[in-house]
Amino acid sequence: MDGLPKLIGPLPGPRARAIIERDARVVSPSYTRSYPLVAERGEGAIIEDVDGNRFLDFSAGIAVVATGHCHPRVVEAIQKQAARLIHMSGTDFYYEGMAALAEKLAEIAPGEVPRRVAFGNSGAEAIEGSIKLARYATGRDKIIAFFGCFHGRTLGALSLTARKAVQRGHFGPLLPGVVHAPYPYCYRCPFGRQPEGCAVECVKHIEDTLLKTIAPPEETAAIVVEPVLGEGGYVVPPKKFFDELARVAQQNGILLIFDEVQSGMGRTGKMWAAEHFDAVPDILAVAKGIAGGMPLGATVARADLMTWPPGAHASTFGGNPVCCAAALATIALLEEGLMKNAARMGAHLMDRMREWPARFPHVGEVRGLGLMIGIDLVRDQRTKEKAPELRGRVLRQAFERGLLVLGAGDNAIRLCPPLVITRDQCDFAMETLEECLR
Ligand SMILES: Cc1ncc(COP(=O)(O)O)c(C=O)c1O
Repeated sequence: MDGLPKLIGPLPGPRARAIIERDARVVSPSYTRSYPLVAERGEGAIIEDVDGNRFLDFSAGIAVVATGHCHPRVVEAIQKQAARLIHMSGTDFYYEGMAALAEKLAEIAPGEVPRRVAFGNSGAEAIEGSIKLARYATGRDKIIAFFGCFHGRTLGALSLTARKAVQRGHFGPLLPGVVHAPYPYCYRCPFGRQPEGCAVECVKHIEDTLLKTIAPPEETAAIVVEPVLGEGGYVVPPKKFFDELARVAQQNGILLIFDEVQSGMGRTGKMWAAEHFDAVPDILAVAKGIAGGMPLGATVARADLMTWPPGAHASTFGGNPVCCAAALATIALLEEGLMKNAARMGAHLMDRMREWPARFPHVGEVRGLGLMIGIDLVRDQRTKEKAPELRGRVLRQAFERGLLVLGAGDNAIRLCPPLVITRDQCDFAMETLEECLR
């Protein structure tokens, strides 16, 4: 497939329309589809739909296919493993792929600390494992999470998630003992401070309010945070937030859990977003980009914490042999050059997009690390009033021009292309978005 989009008819085409009608009759109405893309096949950063239209994919299946769609090395690893052994539950038996992937994750996890790994099938499961381990290891039950963060939709993970009311509404009661703090979304400071006048108010709130009232240190197991806010709008906190968080956690014997489900696996130009802040978690939750599109999640923890006994935590499919093979191929590709490409292409995008607030009255801020870039759309740059309806229009118009982008937060456009993206493809995406913004 060619590297740029090609549309051959009005969207959605006839075959797409027929599938959407079938889907509408039987698939859960809880899914959120921003526009009618019906995918047929993918290669690199290009998706072809069922009518033969080709799109440039700046969504990567919600930040999943780090190595691009159907990378030949990932496909080969999957095919070889599938022909040999598809499943043999690692819960009850051994296979080399699981040990090899755990070794690799322990090696590349942030910080020079011995690690152990528990496998699951998704981001939510990686978070469930993290919550359980934090409670088990500390003997404490309370968890501090942040407003705006998204950690998944299973009931434990959902209890931490504080993104949208519709995600939590009517599902309670959720886990008791979970409390939330403001996230350092400095463009819209929850404390109304200018960044330069901020004394890391978000952490002060934890230290001076939460720990002194509803989450006393002797009952608080962990603080869970996304190092870069994903679903909440692609927000990058300042480094001093992490320094302060580490100090408060350490002084109070509270574990730090980093949810790098979206920000990890090379997307920010380093293997982990945490590395941009010299921050080291006690427990790391990983999924999405880990296995080239195969379902896999991992809870990577300090080895001295992961001492739970046989039977305490496991999953039938978690760390399945085919997923492990795909993950090993994926990590090799990231290390061989894709992570560097993410840094290079991210810088290329930001070089031009940094000027957007000066060029487009409805762009409030462009922010990001590597290929995790958010464009905050506002009605008015001075009041910073959010412009969700405008965001919806831009997503739709980009689709009609052959570019797939997703929203994040109430009003941001997120750019999270596969890490195989080229300069030409970045230029096409920027030109298309500029046209839509104009
Ligand atoms: C930061 C973060 N954590 C957890 C999850 C949940 O992952 P999954 O949908 O694989 O359960 C997501 C999904 O978007 C995420 O972005």
